[in-house]
Amino acid sequence: MSAQIIDGKQIANQLLEEIKSKIDQRLVDGKRAPCLAVVLVGDDPASAIYVRNKRLACEKVGIVSIAHNLPANTTQEALFALIQTLNADPDTDGILVQSPLPHHIDESAILALIDPGKDVDGFHPYNIGRLAVRQPLLRSCTPYGVIKMLQASGIAIKGLDAVVVGVSNHVGRPMGLELLLAGCTVTSCHRHTKDLQSHISRADLIVSAVGKPGLVKGEWIKPGAIVVDIGINRLPDGKITGDVDFAIASQRASHITPVPGGVGPMTVATLMENTLKALELSEQA
Ligand code: GUN
Repeated sequence: MSAQIIDGKQIANQLLEEIKSKIDQRLVDGKRAPCLAVVLVGDDPASAIYVRNKRLACEKVGIVSIAHNLPANTTQEALFALIQTLNADPDTDGILVQSPLPHHIDESAILALIDPGKDVDGFHPYNIGRLAVRQPLLRSCTPYGVIKMLQASGIAIKGLDAVVVGVSNHVGRPMGLELLLAGCTVTSCHRHTKDLQSHISRADLIVSAVGKPGLVKGEWIKPGAIVVDIGINRLPDGKITGDVDFAIASQRASHITPVPGGVGPMTVATLMENTLKALELSEQA
């Protein structure tokens, strides 16, 4: 059997079109466009690429993006002050602080300082908590993007045995909460998991979010399972690959996401959706 490849880029483009129409309509109605502040500290090359993709997506849909590019030696106090200014600015709807931050900055303290109503990454403990108690508001972009990608592909996941590999605050944990909300039976695997293969080989849906090429062996995939690969890894030859052994897994799965061109574009499209949503929420407040 050969899996259906889920084209995340195409699904994301469709979502971006829908967001653009809503923003165009706002302008027709005399309302303003959403505005996203993008904070980048230091010169990590991967972060620069992510931030560029986010800026291009903003341009595509009509979101105003304002870049705050700060040097690597920016103090925590200076970053705090910037976040407080952005929190107080009525024209800033979304605040995104690109991760990772330099080591001398306490990332969780910065993320917790962002106004939860402007937390378009969905990383704030308030927004994670809302998701945990089944009242999601601004939802973490990658996990929510995965859910929307599966929905757009016509894949029903209620009742499935799902395994999430990786328990990071930004991806693995909220991914588990999203799958629970969607009615899956969720198992989270991590570095202390005794037998990863035994969990994966029983799963109807596997979501890997670790960042380790070759972690999920193709032979472990149950025939007909759905495989979502969130890993983004750069190989020594410069090629980008996921966590899953795609060549073999795609012969066993019913559906599989490629890397690149799978989950990545959905993350960016969901960020755009969240920014529009943050503005709409502030207008209702
Ligand atoms: N670094 C890698 N991915 C992301 C993301 O989605 N949001 C932020 N803020 N930082 C990231």
